[in-house]
Amino acid sequence: MRALLSLLCAAFVAASPLEPRDTITSTVNLGNNTGSPEHLASGFIYGLPDTQNQIPDHFYTDIGFNYARAGGAQVPAPGRGWIWGLAEYKVRFASALSNYRTARKYNADFIFLIHDLWGADGTQNSTAPYPGDNGDWTSWDDYLTQWISDVNANKITDGLSVDIWNEPDLTYFWNAPQAQYIQMWGRTYHRLRQELSTVKLIGPAFAGQPDPTNDWWTTFLSFIASNSSVPDQYVWHMESGGGDMEGAYGALVGMLQTYKLPIKPLNIDEYATWPEQVPAGSAWWISQLERVNAHGLRGNWLSGWQLHDFMASLVSKAYANGPDYSPTGGCYYPNGDYQVYQYYNLNMTGYRVGTSPSGDLKLDTFATVGKDMVRVLTGVRITTGTWQITINDLSAVGLPTSGSLNIHTWGFPFTNHWGEVDVPNDLGWVSHTYSGNSVTFPVFQTDTSTAYAFEFDVV
Ligand SMILES: *[C@@H]1O[C@H](CO)[C@@H](O)[C@H](O)[C@H]1NC(C)=O
Ligand SMILES: *[C@@H]1O[C@H](CO)[C@@H](O)[C@H](O)[C@H]1NC(C)=O
Ligand SMILES: *[C@@H]1O[C@H](CO)[C@@H](O)[C@H](O)[C@H]1NC(C)=O
Ligand SMILES: *[C@@H]1O[C@H](CO)[C@@H](O)[C@H](O)[C@H]1NC(C)=O
Repeated sequence: MRALLSLLCAAFVAASPLEPRDTITSTVNLGNNTGSPEHLASGFIYGLPDTQNQIPDHFYTDIGFNYARAGGAQVPAPGRGWIWGLAEYKVRFASALSNYRTARKYNADFIFLIHDLWGADGTQNSTAPYPGDNGDWTSWDDYLTQWISDVNANKITDGLSVDIWNEPDLTYFWNAPQAQYIQMWGRTYHRLRQELSTVKLIGPAFAGQPDPTNDWWTTFLSFIASNSSVPDQYVWHMESGGGDMEGAYGALVGMLQTYKLPIKPLNIDEYATWPEQVPAGSAWWISQLERVNAHGLRGNWLSGWQLHDFMASLVSKAYANGPDYSPTGGCYYPNGDYQVYQYYNLNMTGYRVGTSPSGDLKLDTFATVGKDMVRVLTGVRITTGTWQITINDLSAVGLPTSGSLNIHTWGFPFTNHWGEVDVPNDLGWVSHTYSGNSVTFPVFQTDTSTAYAFEFDVV
């Protein structure tokens, strides 16, 4: 009778891949190969010192750094950008150019933030001008002429993207009417497409995630459909502490159907709040971004010259956060969050497999099958409690459908954003008995910041 029941259950599970997710269980499906890992989440905004080679190469290469985004934000006078005159534009451009060269040294793509070079970096005063004020586009047209000429003169079109404007849905970055933003998009898109045809034009980089009740999204999508100005990547930010990637992407796909727009690659070119920039939060975001194949760049919550340092809070250095801080100082070391990205890049090799988050969206997993081991990186969205991980289809990696499995655990601790962590903690091996081609084990999350990796040998 027992045997019959479990057979029935197994048949039921196999026939119902869409059964509701268990609230506390994140699931890994070893039979669902989702392609080569490209560590899609290994980008960050700013965080590159304006002095090239200041942070040693291995800090970039060990995390597989692959996406940068800058435009001279917060460079002080005399470098406040175009709205303060050509001389201040030139100083700001030099900062972005240096960051571009740093990114390209590691073959990372570079997103140029032309709103920052203009001067609307959030520190602009309440009377600062915006493109097209009072219907006059002269200054913006002249600005683009200057910028296109500098891009060509410095030969920086390789690996270059342009975010046409950052977070125009926040008055902090766009304190002008929405309709003026839309006109700016249409004018700028067509001009850059014509004059810099190989450069990717991306956007809209809204702070708000896709949502059919969000008037910025609906107005934008409806306009680009009629204006033939569809971005090469759809971009938005996930820095509010809410939402999740499947929900946000699902909303985008629904709206693309409404406006008869094509699917394009995704780029979440600012993700995670400051409190989420801890190992657990980073592992959660990595899992979320990988699931929908979105490029991701860590948000950057530092200001002034610290914004141009520290790889968006992945590294720190002597006197990093005190009165003796020097933007050009050296002696870098990794923090706890860095260890997660290093493991993600160096150790999670082979091929990716499909995973699902726990039904409450608090625990998520990213998993790879390497030649030697299965590796499952997991993190909670900065909360405590007990969750569990189920790994299905163990026979897909050559294991028997029942028996005992030795699982190795690493803990990725957090000290604080400035604290040194050089290695993850080896938490040893635990044996789990299993049956039905599936193993389930608990994750005891007693703090809000530690991420874990679980590993076992493949046959
Ligand atoms: C405000 O910023 C603009 C440049 O954006 C500058 O021309 C103007 O002088 C500034 N006004 C004040 C009061 O600082
Ligand atoms: C797109 O919109 C801009 C701004 O209104 C306009 O200048 C341009 O002619 C439009 N292009 C097309 C193809 O509709
Ligand atoms: C990750 O891979 C590197 C390079 O092979 C190795 O030195 C390191 O020990 C590995 N780390 C873990 C946690 O397995
Ligand atoms: C495989 O995993 C991907 C990513 O999680 C998911 O979208 C897809 O539906 C999964 N396929 C199957 C057959 O479960």
